Amino acid sequence: MPQRPDTTRLTLRRPDDWHLHLRDGAVLRAVLPETARHFARAIVMPNLVPPVVTGAEAAAYRDRILAALPEGARFTPLMTLYLTEETDPDDVARAHAEGIATAVKLYPAGATTNSASGVRDFDRVRPVLERMAEIGMPLCVHGEVTDPSVDIFDREAVFIDKVLKPLRKKVPDLRIVMEHVTTSDAVDYVRDTPRNLAATITTHHLVINRNAILAGGIRPHNYCLPVAKREKHRVALVQAAVSGDRRFFLGTDSAPHVDARKLEPCGCAGIFTATNTMSILAEVFDAAGALRQLEAFASLNGPQYYRLPPNEERITLEKGGPVDHPARIESGDGPITVFDPGFRLHWRVV
Ligand code: DOR
Ligand code: ZN
Repeated sequence: MPQRPDTTRLTLRRPDDWHLHLRDGAVLRAVLPETARHFARAIVMPNLVPPVVTGAEAAAYRDRILAALPEGARFTPLMTLYLTEETDPDDVARAHAEGIATAVKLYPAGATTNSASGVRDFDRVRPVLERMAEIGMPLCVHGEVTDPSVDIFDREAVFIDKVLKPLRKKVPDLRIVMEHVTTSDAVDYVRDTPRNLAATITTHHLVINRNAILAGGIRPHNYCLPVAKREKHRVALVQAAVSGDRRFFLGTDSAPHVDARKLEPCGCAGIFTATNTMSILAEVFDAAGALRQLEAFASLNGPQYYRLPPNEERITLEKGGPVDHPARIESGDGPITVFDPGFRLHWRVV
């Protein structure tokens, strides 16, 4: 007789985070242990000030991350290079061959935090993209147009039509990760694309819709880019995440900013989820009756797309009484608020 699924204990391969902001200095030291506690590897975003553009800069940043790891932590940062119109294809290929850089990150200029050095004219980065296609190096894409005349809630859907489709036609062998997808349009596009396209989904976009930012008072801690959309889009994201479809995997986009920067009149985009991501995901997958797919989403689909082995180590989650996470963590630069999903959590990593 088939066993009843065990719904109070879940063991899965140690997860990875395929989109993470670690920053530098005091904030790096404060947030890195939060990720290294549960995750084995993470794709580390290069949008520092100044950005991490060259292989040498990525190697130096990786060394700073490794130096900031707590004693005994087992965590591998997978570095990315920030694509600019001046990026040298040879430098990218060398950094990839030497194992320094796993992927390249494309920010359309002005799309988000620290993206001023991003790409304006896509033809100017064609040689880099063609080289990446040749060597099988993935391109991580922030998928929003920056045209101020496009409504902020439409910027992802317009990006797909205006930028991503033409780009994929021009460089069809380029392996692309459309990051932090927030719309059913993006989910459908990825599902309908048979090769060389996958998407990451964040923790918070599985939980909040745009009401969480704007209804009943403005909530800066729920503001990120791409901004959360309508409820029907959140539902599409949950369906994609729990479906087991290999093209969707976890990229938390955990993006710490100290509270002072979040609460300014023009506050920063970014939601910090490293601390409670695994608890929240278990709750979301449990509610969807899909706990068994959590391992695919958090631990298997990502490595498969990145052509890396899945982790051998396991983590176990247990369901019990309410789990409390700190409301904020302290950094040498000030407190950083931890994402509040707005519901009680019952799953803890043991
Ligand atoms: O909300 C966001 N925060 N979206 C991004 O694309 C960048 C990130 C950050 O660096 O804070
Ligand atoms: Zn990000």
